[in-house]
Amino acid sequence: MTAAKNRILELRAELDQHNYRYHVLDEPSIPDIEYDRLFHELKALEAANPELVTSDSPTQRVGSAALSAFTQVRHEVPMLSLGNAFEETDMREFDRRVTEGLDLPVGDLFGGGAAVEYSCEPKLDGLAVSLLYQDGVLVRGATRGDGTTGEDISVNVRTVRNIPLKLHGTGWPATLEVRGEVFMSKAGFERLNATQLEVGGKTFANPRNAAAGSLRQLDSKITANRPLEFCCYGIGQVSADIAETHIGNLQQLKAWGLPISHELKLANGIAECLAYYRDIGERRNALPYEIDGVVFKVNSIAAQRELGFRAREPRWAIAHKFPAMEELTELLDVEFQVGRTGAVTPVARLKPVKVAGVTVANATLHNMDEVARLGLMIGDTVIIRRAGDVIPQVVQVVLERRPDNARPVKIPEQCPVCGSHVERTQLVKRSKGRETISEGAVYRCVGRLACGAQLKQAIIHFVSRRAMDIEGLGDKSVEQLVDEGLVSSPADLYALKFEDIVDLEGFAEVSSNKLLSAIEGSKKPGLARFIYALGIPDVGEETAKVLARSLGSLERVQRALPQVLTYLPDVGLEVAHEIHSFFEDAHNQQVIADLLKHGLQIQDQGDLGAEFAASTTLGGFLDKLHIPSVGPGGAQKLAEKFGSLQGVMSADWLDMRQALPEKQANSVREFFASEENRQLAEAAEKQLADFGMHWQSEKKVVEGLPLAGQTWVLTGSLELMSRDVAKDKLESLGAKVAGSVSAKTHCVVAGPGAGSKLTKANELGLKVLDEEAFVGFLKDHGVPV
Ligand code: IVH
Repeated sequence: MTAAKNRILELRAELDQHNYRYHVLDEPSIPDIEYDRLFHELKALEAANPELVTSDSPTQRVGSAALSAFTQVRHEVPMLSLGNAFEETDMREFDRRVTEGLDLPVGDLFGGGAAVEYSCEPKLDGLAVSLLYQDGVLVRGATRGDGTTGEDISVNVRTVRNIPLKLHGTGWPATLEVRGEVFMSKAGFERLNATQLEVGGKTFANPRNAAAGSLRQLDSKITANRPLEFCCYGIGQVSADIAETHIGNLQQLKAWGLPISHELKLANGIAECLAYYRDIGERRNALPYEIDGVVFKVNSIAAQRELGFRAREPRWAIAHKFPAMEELTELLDVEFQVGRTGAVTPVARLKPVKVAGVTVANATLHNMDEVARLGLMIGDTVIIRRAGDVIPQVVQVVLERRPDNARPVKIPEQCPVCGSHVERTQLVKRSKGRETISEGAVYRCVGRLACGAQLKQAIIHFVSRRAMDIEGLGDKSVEQLVDEGLVSSPADLYALKFEDIVDLEGFAEVSSNKLLSAIEGSKKPGLARFIYALGIPDVGEETAKVLARSLGSLERVQRALPQVLTYLPDVGLEVAHEIHSFFEDAHNQQVIADLLKHGLQIQDQGDLGAEFAASTTLGGFLDKLHIPSVGPGGAQKLAEKFGSLQGVMSADWLDMRQALPEKQANSVREFFASEENRQLAEAAEKQLADFGMHWQSEKKVVEGLPLAGQTWVLTGSLELMSRDVAKDKLESLGAKVAGSVSAKTHCVVAGPGAGSKLTKANELGLKVLDEEAFVGFLKDHGVPV
């Protein structure tokens, strides 16, 4: 056997395998561009050795046989493929073949040739589908399969929202087979993957795979929940001709209710085709769906007939491809980067490869769960995808190409920067009154500020504009200060001397003095700014503001228990634990103490925020304990009946049953039977009291509130919040909420359907707010809505 023959057999076997994976299993293991490369290599070898061409070569047919689970469908008119053009010269060549084929003048470098009319459409990246309409009714949907035989996916296509089940208008041929692409928009794809991750399902590498995997579901209920769309680009079998041009056909189909591309255009000659290609190429990233090229078709149907077909493609159409957004490359190594909060993130080091015109050598791997999901090993051949402007991603491992010496990706036990221990984060969730702790996806270096990477990032964050706002200290200078050992905590910034700075790269006398005065000038930060500057994990500017506004002092923020922190708007248990453990950490405590020692004076400290102080009621507190099956209503009843936490904890069964139905009463007893729960509740209660926000002191707090002494009435239905919530919010501002309107009422909030109370309020000339105005009022008073 010759070398050529060997290679041909090898390529055929490989292409057959890829065809099967792509067309039958919907699980391609190499990007299209690689498939095209292998295909072209085979084509070239066969062209050079015509005696070796056999009828079973992949060059002689399209795709492979259908999955047996669907019924097979024979395509009366075969579903063909398209020839590809990658370069402008390929396109000019195509145009020359068309012009010659139609016996039109070809022209030369200086023009003079006939301008053929072409239709231009985007080449959607989905999967080809045939829709058969009999007397205007959708009777069958099929995949392309191998072009001659496809699969019957009628039930599935019926679930695609933009496929009409009946044609609109009149005049359609009795038999009309419509062809087009089923695809998934970029947004739909992102949404689907996000949900799949949430429910622990399979995610998809790209929108094409997602569309294919969704459409070829044996359970069409799954298909129905997937964001699939259809775009029509041609016709197959028809009992009567429709129009004289391709565009005419599509426009008629559109009139019958079939979706066609918004980008459909007519080009007069090849130059206009090339301009169309460039224009769409520039807008490619902004289009809501993915395309892998544009398709040009000779517009005249008569001319199409004259040109006819080659083995697998029409002579009258071509796909002008864009650079692929996916490429194959090798994973050389996985390195770990350490971020500001110590998160140790895997980063893929790749053999550099050009993806859509940009050389890619690194890709983010997000976290170790992602590495596990991909089943990634060092040495693997991987598919890299660069969609739009986003950071390149590893989307798939090509298992067939895994070398024998592939190594698993292991999270380092020691931080690559400081050598501290690396530990897995925990997720704290609360359900049924219990905290459950599970393993998180993130690993963290425990070195904190002793870790150079975290220290640098922490200081960069500390001095940043929205934090301590120390101007004149760029990332590079921070790195130098840390590397020179001049700064090993944010507090050290305040001990810097002129001599320390003036020798740094990029510094001179003037800039050193400027920096020193900027450092000096940052010594009186607001409380929120200071909390934000500390760089507590999960605490952004907003949360820092909430902490400052609600707790009023650094001292309270420092010792707040997680259960107390959850009283703050938008602070869940997880964030509450982060905040609590940050301030429990001895090293962090030292840094804060040092900062204060260096003369930092935190401003805006004072009393507890009134809104926060008033947010504690005994009922609300009991509700926060998350006693299983006891909702806010039940908690309120307990509060009314027993008047104190102690009362609830020591209540006897009969009293408890008077307050609550049996199931809930049982649940309360069970909850407080746990020593741990009792301690937790008591500690939180004690801290609330210490903070001066206990329900016993409610009265005192109310006096200072903006609506103290006012009576409000809620009537009609509210749409943005329940009446209970509206009541809580008004009460948090000090108002009393009453059930009936009288001359003493200060204000009435009236939603749609308000009746006699509104009438009475109007008669009495009271102030009336609709819901929108009410929400505005709350916002104006600093109450989050
Ligand atoms: S025309 C005989 N037009 O590309 C002409 N195809 O490689 C057959 N495709 O299987 C196809 N957008 O799935 C045509 N505007 C478009 C297209 C398009 C996407 C797909 C189609 C086809 C493949 C051809």
